[in-house]
Amino acid sequence: MAQGTTEAGVSRRGFLTRVGATGGAGAMFATMGALGLAPSAEAATRAPFEPPRASDFRLRGRAAAKVAVLGAGVAGLAAAYELGKAGYEVTVLEARKRVGGRNLTLRGGDRLAEAGGATQRVGFGKGTYLNAGPARIAQWMTTMDYCRELGVPLEVFTNSNADAYLFNESAGMAAPVRWRTAKADVYGYVSELLAKATDQGALDGRLTATDKERLLSFLSGFGAIGGKADGFAYKGTDGRRGYSVNPGAADTAGTVLGPVPSLSDVFAHGTGRYFSFEFGYSQAMLMFQPVGGMDAIPRALAEAVGHGRIRTGAAVTRITSLARGVRIEYERDGRARALDADFCVATLPPHVLARIPHNLGAGVQSALATPVPVATGKIGLEYRGRWWEDEERIYGGITNTDLDISTIWYPSHGYHGDRGLLVGYYNFGAAADAYAALDHAGRLRRALDQGAKIHGDRYRRNIAASASIAWKRQEHIEGGWISWPSRGAAYALLNRPQGNVYFAGDWLSHEIAWQHGSFESARKVVTELHQRVLRS
Ligand code: ALA
Repeated sequence: MAQGTTEAGVSRRGFLTRVGATGGAGAMFATMGALGLAPSAEAATRAPFEPPRASDFRLRGRAAAKVAVLGAGVAGLAAAYELGKAGYEVTVLEARKRVGGRNLTLRGGDRLAEAGGATQRVGFGKGTYLNAGPARIAQWMTTMDYCRELGVPLEVFTNSNADAYLFNESAGMAAPVRWRTAKADVYGYVSELLAKATDQGALDGRLTATDKERLLSFLSGFGAIGGKADGFAYKGTDGRRGYSVNPGAADTAGTVLGPVPSLSDVFAHGTGRYFSFEFGYSQAMLMFQPVGGMDAIPRALAEAVGHGRIRTGAAVTRITSLARGVRIEYERDGRARALDADFCVATLPPHVLARIPHNLGAGVQSALATPVPVATGKIGLEYRGRWWEDEERIYGGITNTDLDISTIWYPSHGYHGDRGLLVGYYNFGAAADAYAALDHAGRLRRALDQGAKIHGDRYRRNIAASASIAWKRQEHIEGGWISWPSRGAAYALLNRPQGNVYFAGDWLSHEIAWQHGSFESARKVVTELHQRVLRS
């Protein structure tokens, strides 16, 4: 038989594509098995996701299996959702009182307990919310597909705004600058330098005469610099820095913001370090958020899975992989219970899993203990009024600073409303640890002191309510996300089933700290598990 061709003369790939298109993944894998093509796990993850279907079982004469899913975060709910659609008997065990895991939206009336600390009672007004965990979705992410499938309405999330601020206190900046101003100055001076070097022949080894001409023409527009006669100087007279008096009618041409800082000051202020953020594949505009709060995603997933299949307040105490099946022991309402299933999909954070007794071996244990939890935290400040819109003309976006608050986020919805919520810090590492060590009142004071350096005293006034989260102090989660010292043997091991136990979560993906990673990991595991059931 010629390579890639069946006896009937149809290319095997073409045939499988058609089977896959009409019969779903299960049909495709079953057919591949019949053709003697064992699909690798890697191939399965690269192929477009084909959800398991109930009809796959009819093709192979197999019955759907029983699956225990540990964790009702995004990965667990997505796995339960996809398996449930195909007729698997799924039970989800969730240690926390509510579904969603780190996808947590805080609203008025919520209580937020903290390990070793007081419980906050969230006092936000009606319609105000804080996305305490994930808060933005890139267009390319699988999360968008689930929003479409589940009917979760979306709106634009403004991830960068020319009128938000940059402020590096430690670099000696006297006052914050708008992103647009900082960009004009950095791009302007970089363009001036490069144009000079190009013109003086410093790059002749790299550039032809035509290249030089084109580069100079690009720099002229990119940096708004002068021509050769002006020494390619950046003067900052172009309106892109912003205006102290806006252009208006008749003879009101506007007054360009000045004075322009020196080249040396611009580089000393270090504002350029923030610009690459918006080039990132995951952070580039446009970005999106569910209308009304990010937890619309887990709520829709839980609804689709069926609340009867999800047990909250159920903390897993032991995982045992058996010759046939798994036994999951857990505690609920103070009572020890057990759940028997054919397979387990464990989606808890690895550092939490590492404390749960299991029989999966020392290799798995040391792999689970390898990733390092990352600290992160946020505070939500609800204001009576929206001074950042009314007085500072900031409608969404993010201010960046080297202060320990790292960022201030302005809301991307509810413009011109009576109230609004700012994220007063979203920080990581040592800064997040410092805020985590304080009680809520201490966090609030510190965040206001820092934010006032950017927005002045109005930042302290008219606060209606506030709430903060320190993810390392959230029970059963204990971190914002994890970091792998290297994606080596431990990562590879946990990305393979161990007996009848599969692991899933953003921590087993290349998009850690994104719901996309959770969805992709869940899909990979669901695909592998389904293949196995169909082959068994
Ligand atoms: N996904 C996280 C964020 O957008 C890390 O900040």
